[in-house]
Amino acid sequence: MQSLKLNPVFSPEVLQKRIEELAKVINQDYKNQPITALGVLKGSFVFYSDLIRLLDLDVTCDFCEVKSYAGTQSTGEARLTLDAGTSLKNKNILIIEDIIDTGLTMAFLKNHILSRAPKSVKIVSLLLKPDSLKTENPADYIGFEISNDFVVGYGLDYQGLYRNLPYLAQIQNLN
Ligand code: IMP
Ligand code: MG
Repeated sequence: MQSLKLNPVFSPEVLQKRIEELAKVINQDYKNQPITALGVLKGSFVFYSDLIRLLDLDVTCDFCEVKSYAGTQSTGEARLTLDAGTSLKNKNILIIEDIIDTGLTMAFLKNHILSRAPKSVKIVSLLLKPDSLKTENPADYIGFEISNDFVVGYGLDYQGLYRNLPYLAQIQNLN
């Protein structure tokens, strides 16, 4: 087992409570309009599954994958490694992301999604690192703002590990 020291940041209960608040606002904003919930793999898959189960809307599930990270550093260059499998034309797209760091991945993805002629595009991210942003904050809904420390768990990884932790944690003494 990996044995890096983890400092808990948000417990499962704190995460769940905030996701319930986000879902309430999203349900009100879409007011029964159907949406395509577009998860950004892999990091968003846990948040995605908790959030969509609280949406009282007609939800079509789809996924894409964008890669930009090497280790704990954003490379600044995003590339699409899996495109959405359904037609996005004239659909209300809700992009579901785990974390916005520099914002470059989301800026790239939003442009790509807009090129597929959706009716609307909104972005929900569980986490935002405001001090890292190199773009305008692209998200319409944010769960929590956090410091620049690298975090894992609840879907987020370090070198492919820790996605299965039920809580969010910061890795102590990384680098
Ligand atoms: P950005 O392009 O710099 O905004 O990077 C966003 C992507 O980097 C996210 O979708 C994550 O996959 C990854 N990322 C950024 N910060 C962290 C972190 O603290 N832990 C795990 N992954 C992260
Ligand atoms: Mg990601």
